[in-house]
Amino acid sequence: MSGEIPKDEGLDKTLSVLKEGYEFILNRKEDLNTDVFETRILGEKTICLTGSEGAELFYDNDRFRRSDAAPRRVEKTLFGEGGVQGLDGAEHHHRKAMFMTLMDDDSMMEIDRLMRKYWRRYFEAAGSLETIELYEAAKIVILRTACEWTGVPLREEEIEERARQISDLFESPAALGVQHWKGRISRSKANEWMEEVIEDVRKEKISVDEDRAVFAFSRARDEKGELLDKKTAAVEMLNLIRPMTAVSVWVAMIGLAMHEFPREKEKLKRTEHYKIEWFIQEVRRYYPFFPFAVARTDADFKWKGYEFKEGTLTLLDLYGTNRHPADWIRPEEFMPERFRGWQQTPFNFIPQGGGSYDFGHRCAGEFITIVMMKATVDFLVNEMDYDVPEQDFGFEFNDIPAVPNDKVKINNYRFQ
Ligand code: HEM
Repeated sequence: MSGEIPKDEGLDKTLSVLKEGYEFILNRKEDLNTDVFETRILGEKTICLTGSEGAELFYDNDRFRRSDAAPRRVEKTLFGEGGVQGLDGAEHHHRKAMFMTLMDDDSMMEIDRLMRKYWRRYFEAAGSLETIELYEAAKIVILRTACEWTGVPLREEEIEERARQISDLFESPAALGVQHWKGRISRSKANEWMEEVIEDVRKEKISVDEDRAVFAFSRARDEKGELLDKKTAAVEMLNLIRPMTAVSVWVAMIGLAMHEFPREKEKLKRTEHYKIEWFIQEVRRYYPFFPFAVARTDADFKWKGYEFKEGTLTLLDLYGTNRHPADWIRPEEFMPERFRGWQQTPFNFIPQGGGSYDFGHRCAGEFITIVMMKATVDFLVNEMDYDVPEQDFGFEFNDIPAVPNDKVKINNYRFQ
């Protein structure tokens, strides 16, 4: 059997992507009743895949590559140029190992401890009468955590500016106009900052422990034994600090979930039969964050009878896969307990990408993310009390990343 991939008829759909955002692929999956379809985006033929079977195909390294896949505007802001995201084969595996060796139990324990320490410090410093935005507060708390864990010096007086620069990187890639250009300027400044840090570590102008990421990255070599150039080492350092800071988006969604589902929040209070982990997994499944992963076909091949041509841009729907009815019962409902005894595969739950951590492009920081989210929930529920003032909790599905409009305000906080 061979056949044409179902088509999303009409002209270029770039505007629809901007308008529909996270739901672009999901909407067409439903209209066309298919997990694979062809469309046109940015003037180019593009295949869209959704669901765990689509994900399994997408993460087959013999059929898809990353070089020449990510749009330039994303490289110029979010990813940076020359980073691990755009590498393939042995070069990718070698570079990815540089990240994965950091992800051990000691790191997880340290990150958990730092998150709790800096959350407490943030609220102690803020004063109990101030109304704070959880999203903005999380950026500061996490940036401190990230810099301390990686060994990057961060002076008290530069924290706010650095937090702004780093968040411009993940708030701008899908934006148009001014916001996008802000992202590009912040990318230059952040690169400059990190290149200077790498240089200082190399010249021993600043001393860092040998087990810190900044020490390892400043001495890292490529698979041919060449020292990584300063620019690339800096981009990779930012590939730790930027996405860690971006966990602030999920902190905002934790705040939203507690507001939308107060019964679930109640269950978080030191109950033995309910796990914080189920709650944060459901937050990662239910709310949108990273819309699609991008690759290019690296061969002509057939899948399920459909013909794929080499060099075709391909999007994998991360948001929709986490709600695919083949893998999720009542996907539209927020039900943390669905994670009790749940069977994970590399492809059925992919808010941070799927496949293999070591040989594929699955997010290097997935465990760190979970640790940061758990520490945050435990802190907010079991160490603090606070009020939630009247506000706009709405968010837009075409705002990437989506964050509640008032950034989740809280006030009258007191420690338990
Ligand atoms: C804020 C929550 C996060 C989200 C939503 C997220 C999402 C993702 C996604 C979707 C990918 C790409 C998957 C693909 O292309 O197939 C990715 C890759 C990556 N993430 Fe994350 N991530 C997060 C947190 C983190 C953290 C905390 C770190 C580091 C400490 C991190 C480091 C990376 C790296 C280095 C890659 C590139 C992996 C590769 O290309 O092999 N991420 N992430």
